[in-house]
Amino acid sequence: MARILITSAIPYINGIKHLGNLVGSQLPADLFARFNRAMGHEVMFICATDEHGTPAELAAAKANKPVEIYCAEMHQVQKRLADSFRLSFDHFGRSSSQRNHKLTQHFAGKLAENGYIAEVLEKQIFSIDDNRFLPDRYITGTCPNCGYTMARGDQCENCTKQLDPTDLINPRSSISGSTNLEVRETKHLYLRQRSLKDKLEAWIDSKTDWPILTTSIAKKWLNDGEGLQDRGITRDLAWGIPVKKGDQPWPGMEGKVFYVWFDAPIEYIAATAEWADARGLDDAAWERWWRTDKGAADVTYYEFMGKDNVPFHTLSFPATILGSGEPWKLVDYLKSFNYLNYDGGQFSTSQGRGVFMDQALSILPADYWRWWLLSHAPETSDSEFTWENFQASVNKDLADVLGNLVSRVTKFARSKFGDTLPAGGSFGPQEIALIADLGARIRDYEALMAQIEIRKAAAELRAIWVAGNEYLQAAAPWTVVKTDPERAQAIVRLALNLIRVYAILSAPFIPDAAQTMMTALKTDDWAWPKDASAALRALPAGHGFSVPENLFRKITDEERADWQQRFSGIRS
Ligand code: 2FM
Ligand code: ZN
Repeated sequence: MARILITSAIPYINGIKHLGNLVGSQLPADLFARFNRAMGHEVMFICATDEHGTPAELAAAKANKPVEIYCAEMHQVQKRLADSFRLSFDHFGRSSSQRNHKLTQHFAGKLAENGYIAEVLEKQIFSIDDNRFLPDRYITGTCPNCGYTMARGDQCENCTKQLDPTDLINPRSSISGSTNLEVRETKHLYLRQRSLKDKLEAWIDSKTDWPILTTSIAKKWLNDGEGLQDRGITRDLAWGIPVKKGDQPWPGMEGKVFYVWFDAPIEYIAATAEWADARGLDDAAWERWWRTDKGAADVTYYEFMGKDNVPFHTLSFPATILGSGEPWKLVDYLKSFNYLNYDGGQFSTSQGRGVFMDQALSILPADYWRWWLLSHAPETSDSEFTWENFQASVNKDLADVLGNLVSRVTKFARSKFGDTLPAGGSFGPQEIALIADLGARIRDYEALMAQIEIRKAAAELRAIWVAGNEYLQAAAPWTVVKTDPERAQAIVRLALNLIRVYAILSAPFIPDAAQTMMTALKTDDWAWPKDASAALRALPAGHGFSVPENLFRKITDEERADWQQRFSGIRS
């Protein structure tokens, strides 16, 4: 039994996530967690909400709520949606937890002790009316290059020129519109990533099995232009983790907080501590997942994220860990994803474009979405959600191939042989051939799942469903029963066993349908079918079963057109 630690990039607190976010981290991480549990491994699967930063503050202000209250409420909303999508986190934490405060301050203290923190005096725009420093992108003004009047302090959207806020003509606060701004000096902490460059490079070079997408992004950031830059890890904000050196005050840093991207990945560790706290366990219980000196040396750690998150996870977070000089676990395998586009454009949270998690569940149950999203995961390139494609996949793969097999077999078996598995006949050449074929396919499926080749694994699973259909088509128990009822019984016995095997294999993708299949077969023996021959004989003659409700319904053309229309606009 192996020990597998899995983290999904933690979603920002400011709003409900869209399907593009979901398929870029949480959903594939869940697939992998479920698969590894099914294989009998010990799994720790962690996610959380990412609660700090200016966007969280502004979203709270917009909702007219104190930021603490806003975050607590949105955490519950996100948690409920995660549960409804059957995301099987061992813990869904909060980056604002006391555990994360302590750990983030601890890491900063260690980094300072080891000489990896520089204190830098900077000039920054202060808004007198807002009584706060403004991050670059919260300053609006006229672009000196093209005259666009809505240019942001970091970049002009119109001509794409990179800007400094002090370049803007007539600068104003994007928060209040106030022009009462001045330049003030402020001190910030920088993580001296540059001096860890060699170590980081050697570490990344040692990861020869990582997806190309991951290593190419990491390498680009290591070596492009001026190469790896030291990074500011503090901000002049009210909301966040107060800057401290371990549990000691940090002179000159009073009233400042850590940058959201410094504390967010540390929350992976903190959330595991929150997991232990929630169960009344001691520190050893979570440290055995994270401290190589306390049992984590035999843990394999997998991270899941969208491609935009890769630099932080291949450079900044590892720099934090390496720079601490302490034996914390570094990621072993980093699975990253391209983007999922939406019906000819992009999903966008800020523009409210696409289908959001709550909307998706309001029209169809989780399994429909899980199947489509995972079987179209944007692994090798960006992929696109279209309603036509969604309808076709659901109707073909789920309704016609899998759902139809389950309903046909159970209904036929009941009508001819009652509500237990029939005893007659024995397996002949057709069954032996199916068992051999499935045996090979299951090995292939396992290997693809273990390599996190999600699309290929989905295709193999579908092929496994198809093989069962083809077998039934050829064996034709509905015809055979008229001339050779004993043989028909053997076919039905195998087919009912096949449904159980399908439930187990399919559960990581479509957990609810899998449960329905198992319930219909009156079994909770979820043992992975290591041996196809034994697995297809696991339910003996005389074992009871029932006919389940239809597993999947088809999407009609009218529904498709209606949804396409309903989700074509902008969410308010
Ligand atoms: O891109 C995002 O949604 C970020 N909130 C991900 C943070 S992942 C990690 F660092 F915790
Ligand atoms: Zn411009």
